[in-house]
Amino acid sequence: MIARTPADGSRLYEQMADKLATMIAQGTLRPGDRVPSVRGLSKKQGVSVSTVLQAYMVLENRGLIEARPQSGFYVRHRFRALPAEPAKTAPSATASRVSVNELVTEFLRAVRDPQIVSLGAGCASAELFPTEKLNRVMASVARRSGAAGNQYDFAAGNPELRREVARRSLDWGCALSSEDIITTCGCMEALNLCLRAVAKPGDTVAVESPTFFGVLQMIGSLGMKALELPTYPRHGVCLDETEAALRRHKVAAVLLTPNYQNPLGACMPDEKKTRLIEILGRREIPLIEDDLFGDLPHEGNRPKVAKAFDKKGLVLLCSSYSKTLCPGYRVGWTAPGRFRDEVERLKFTNTIASPVLPQLAVAEFLRNGGYDHYLRRVRRSFAHQVRVMIDAVTKYFPEGTKVTRPTGGFLLWVEFPKWVDSLRLYRVALNRKISITPGPLFSPKQGYRNFIRLSCGQVWSDEIEQAVITLGKLAEKQQ
Ligand SMILES: Cc1ncc(COP(=O)(O)O)c(C=O)c1O
Repeated sequence: MIARTPADGSRLYEQMADKLATMIAQGTLRPGDRVPSVRGLSKKQGVSVSTVLQAYMVLENRGLIEARPQSGFYVRHRFRALPAEPAKTAPSATASRVSVNELVTEFLRAVRDPQIVSLGAGCASAELFPTEKLNRVMASVARRSGAAGNQYDFAAGNPELRREVARRSLDWGCALSSEDIITTCGCMEALNLCLRAVAKPGDTVAVESPTFFGVLQMIGSLGMKALELPTYPRHGVCLDETEAALRRHKVAAVLLTPNYQNPLGACMPDEKKTRLIEILGRREIPLIEDDLFGDLPHEGNRPKVAKAFDKKGLVLLCSSYSKTLCPGYRVGWTAPGRFRDEVERLKFTNTIASPVLPQLAVAEFLRNGGYDHYLRRVRRSFAHQVRVMIDAVTKYFPEGTKVTRPTGGFLLWVEFPKWVDSLRLYRVALNRKISITPGPLFSPKQGYRNFIRLSCGQVWSDEIEQAVITLGKLAEKQQ
């Protein structure tokens, strides 16, 4: 019988998953073997059916077992050993101006083309969003709010939404009040207002390398410079090198995505977040924390935010519901700590206030409990889609390709052998109606020439598998 209160603090289902994983690793359970039925195991171990199901979900997410319709769970066959992961990045140690990149505009147009198999766009399939339910909620809040829905909102944002966001802050290790929060048009506006609140044109902003091209373009358009920090694909920026960079450079702000970074998928452990906050706190450097993907762990609880460890009000936390619920509503928010009043002033000069009805609809969706139920489903889908994509990369991409192992979100960072030029690959793939995101977009110096970002936001299909096969062949041809 498995202990109910494991001494190591893990949960019952995690302990059960670990035991089965050990049996698979030791070959006691072999590829193709049927694992015990859910009911059978629950009876034998004296645990509930849902504990066994949770354990099997963990094993599925780790890629160790698969469900076969009407038949049960089986140990998965692996085609080959999984490829290696990319190494820690080593960007240039100088701050760079970011020029506005025409390729970004071209890329953004291409990913909107409905004819294209989109492995480039960093968003989820429309079918994963609860759009019908949201539409109903939107209609109902519009009816209820009458004329108030068609008035300017407060610059700080809708009080109901701010309360709902604050209520959820306990899940991320904070205890925010609605007063701490300002709502924005997406996470992008939140980042923009926060950057402007803490830095001015000519200043240097430190970022992960590689980092989301939207952030780089924003830094460029605000006349600021980007300093790239060496980053581990699993655990985020290298703190020793960050400390050294802060000694060498005058850095006005650090902008990071500690949870499921775009494009690496890196997630900083709590100890690292604590040390990061100490390092920045000693120098009074603000941290703009982008937590856009934080609600999307593949298993277990969502990670804490770095802001949870901030006692000085130096962290400006930003997020939105674009990756989890409704990119089209453009509902985002920031908790800007001690910079709150400046961010509120900037919000007014930027857009006066956010639109009322989308804020009310999201507040209602968060309140009535639909969000958590829906999140559980969507996390499972992303975990599955990422796993299947890693398998496909293993099978179809050239020998020597490396790929990340994100534990949340839906993005993969793929390193091809040096002879692959990802910009050329991007263009030939686009001619075949397949979009990918070329690596050079993720660096101000246009490095990462043999890297691409693959989005696993789309529900897996034969069409996607064919696209991955084609990409593999097109890459192979460059040798
Ligand atoms: C890391 C990151 N931050 C911010 C954004 C922008 O988010 P939003 O669509 O909520 O403005 C994106 C969009 O892809 C992103 O990947």
